[in-house]
Amino acid sequence: MPKALVERQQNIRKPLTDLGVANLLFYCDNDDCMSYLLQLGLKDRIDLVYIDPPFHSGERYFHRIDNHSDVAFADVWRSHEYLGMMRSRLGNIWGLLAPTGSIFVHLDWHALHYVKVIMDEIFGPENFRNEIIVKRGRRKNLQYQFKSLDRMHNAFDSILWYSKSKDAKFPLPLVEQSSKSKWMGFWSNVNRPTMRYEIFGYTPERGQWKWSKERAFLAIANYGLYEKEFSSRMSLEEYWELSGRKVEFIRKRNNVKYAEYWIPPKTHKILDNIWLDIEAYNYSTGYPTEKHEQLLERIINLFSRPGNIVADFFCGSGTTLVVAQRLERHWIGCDSSPTAMSVTKKRLGNTKFRLVTL
Ligand SMILES: C[S@@+](CC[C@H](N)C(=O)[O-])C[C@H]1O[C@@H](n2cnc3c(N)ncnc32)[C@H](O)[C@@H]1O
Repeated sequence: MPKALVERQQNIRKPLTDLGVANLLFYCDNDDCMSYLLQLGLKDRIDLVYIDPPFHSGERYFHRIDNHSDVAFADVWRSHEYLGMMRSRLGNIWGLLAPTGSIFVHLDWHALHYVKVIMDEIFGPENFRNEIIVKRGRRKNLQYQFKSLDRMHNAFDSILWYSKSKDAKFPLPLVEQSSKSKWMGFWSNVNRPTMRYEIFGYTPERGQWKWSKERAFLAIANYGLYEKEFSSRMSLEEYWELSGRKVEFIRKRNNVKYAEYWIPPKTHKILDNIWLDIEAYNYSTGYPTEKHEQLLERIINLFSRPGNIVADFFCGSGTTLVVAQRLERHWIGCDSSPTAMSVTKKRLGNTKFRLVTL
């Protein structure tokens, strides 16, 4: 190990091995950064990694601010070079990731499928969790000007989520979304004869009722009680609140043979893997390909806890680090671009961190 590196290692060993105070920003190639962290003893210690590497787009990206622009980074590779670069980084990330940890890799159509194959090799196909679809940036569909096209406009990016081990479990990914209560038909076309019984004088000949007989009869009785004793004084929703938000209701539907059941109001929904409700890109720093804090807030909030270590080894303008700091996680960031470094440092403001240059 070079002398300067050994000195720095002595400087930062304590906070890193305590894991109490460490926030580290590396200005270097991330291969060096990760080898260094492994040598420092951070094997199996990082709880969450988000990376937004170059996409293999064949483009150069400029940081544009106040009528001035510099190259921020180049994304120009031969395919085997790009995949070799990703393979070595993903291998090191696997080593650094805690057994309960997860990695999220943000890509687009250029390299997604090739990187997925590499990740299956490194993390194991059994640890693939989801491909998450997010909105692409401000790229308009310019195809209106043409009479024909050779392919459709690409409107989304993908984030590959892998865990380090297949036994890792995660809390329900709930996001705020309110919906009003409603009545829905109690019949379903799933065909289970044992779930066909008489309600309000009618037994379906095919399909089934949605709940068991016992549960349905209790819900009918609940609604009867509400109508008889409480409906003149309060709404059904108020009654449901008052009775501990657990009571279920079924009632007869006017002029129809089928019964209907009550779906209570909701404040949250469970996320699926299409995240079009939030922005993925932002334009606040002028750094090209800057990701939106909404996206990082969602990933960090759902897949780590306060006090955990979150890392982004292609941190660009520092979005992951800023959000991790706000959500009280420790963070490790790395970028090899001088422009990325100056934007990230400015964005971090008074945040305490150690800058490591290898
Ligand atoms: C797509 S940008 C990341 C943008 C970032 N997510 C943000 O919100 O600003 C990719 C970054 O990876 C950096 N990068 C590319 N290769 C790297 C390497 N080998 N080591 C460190 N950083 C690298 C580039 O300099 C660039 O800033």
